[in-house]
Amino acid sequence: MILTDEEQAIFDGEKGAGAQKAMELVVALGKIYGADSLVDITSAHLSGASYKTIGEGGLKYLSDMVAGGAKVSVPSTLNPVGMDRERWKEMHIGPEFAEKQLQIIELYGKMGIRKTCSCTPYIGDNVPGFGDHVAWAESSALSVVNSYFGARTNREGGPGALAAAILGKTANYGLHLTENRRPTVVVDVEDMGGSVFDYSVLGQAVGMAIGKGIPYFRGLKDISIEDAKTLSAAMAAAGSVALWHAEGCTPEAGDFDVSGLEHISIGDAERKAAYDKLNTVEDVQLIALGCPHLTPKEMHDIAALLKGKKKKNKDVEVWFCTSESVRSQCQDDVRIMEEFGPVLADTCMVVAPIEGTFQRTATNSAKAGNYLPTLCSQKVKFADISDLLKVIE
Ligand code: F3S
Repeated sequence: MILTDEEQAIFDGEKGAGAQKAMELVVALGKIYGADSLVDITSAHLSGASYKTIGEGGLKYLSDMVAGGAKVSVPSTLNPVGMDRERWKEMHIGPEFAEKQLQIIELYGKMGIRKTCSCTPYIGDNVPGFGDHVAWAESSALSVVNSYFGARTNREGGPGALAAAILGKTANYGLHLTENRRPTVVVDVEDMGGSVFDYSVLGQAVGMAIGKGIPYFRGLKDISIEDAKTLSAAMAAAGSVALWHAEGCTPEAGDFDVSGLEHISIGDAERKAAYDKLNTVEDVQLIALGCPHLTPKEMHDIAALLKGKKKKNKDVEVWFCTSESVRSQCQDDVRIMEEFGPVLADTCMVVAPIEGTFQRTATNSAKAGNYLPTLCSQKVKFADISDLLKVIE
């Protein structure tokens, strides 16, 4: 890899131990993946924010970075943490976890990272432009900014994204290069429904069919940001898709010749197989919505569904997960939703330690449907929001 004089000076430790550690990591990743240089980035989004997922090792790593004087040099946001900062007791979380979680947020803050913690920062204050190079972790969010916004990021891990945020640079390989953004398979979608849940099932089916690669969709129309985040999250969890194109919808779809590519079809049989894979239980203790975090439109839609109704089944808890900024924008919706359960900010059902309290959880998200069993020891009911909410009306 060729480094500029300034980059070499950072590598040699002339700008402090934190920046040196960051440069060593970015250069090591670049060597592994065949990058010949670094590229400037305009923003970063970091995962590894929950005490449940990073534990004592992560806390120590962050403490060392802060002690080494590390500071981010581009706008940087943080993924959901393990609890709502104010309402953690309603999540059945104890004070020891809460204390550690608050320490982690504080350490990220000391490095200059914004302390709003969401997996949908692109509907908040971190919105990449077309063609921007960025370093984003969080598999759903990075796929949205690659595919729907036309920004360029690899599937970063938490430490790699933090290192890039400190340097304002990342290694120039993979999806930063135009030739690697070509579709690898055409996906013909038959009889697509219009609900967000339909996009969850579609993403699960495609992830199961192709695993990795860059799908080029035919048969999708008018994809909203809600559809895009749901589809991205599902394909990233069921497979490892980090970029997709949709004919007539996404900004780079017209740039590539797809003749000669393999075709697959997603119809009723594939959708049923996807649904059956995730839906493993009927009787649940928790209904958790907002994976990825609810947008203002989704908050309005849920509030409209619940308005004038009462929660009858008191045995089932309901959590709505969103960002602090969306929660404060949607106070009228929040008042209606809170009749059914807490609207939790900056956390989610997967990165919170729910396994101490619940064993059976319902979701409309294929991403949560994949991770709840593996990361939270849950059995899962997988269904559309309107069907899930019937359980408690
Ligand atoms: Fe976001 Fe948590 Fe889902 S981080 S994408 S709500 S698993």
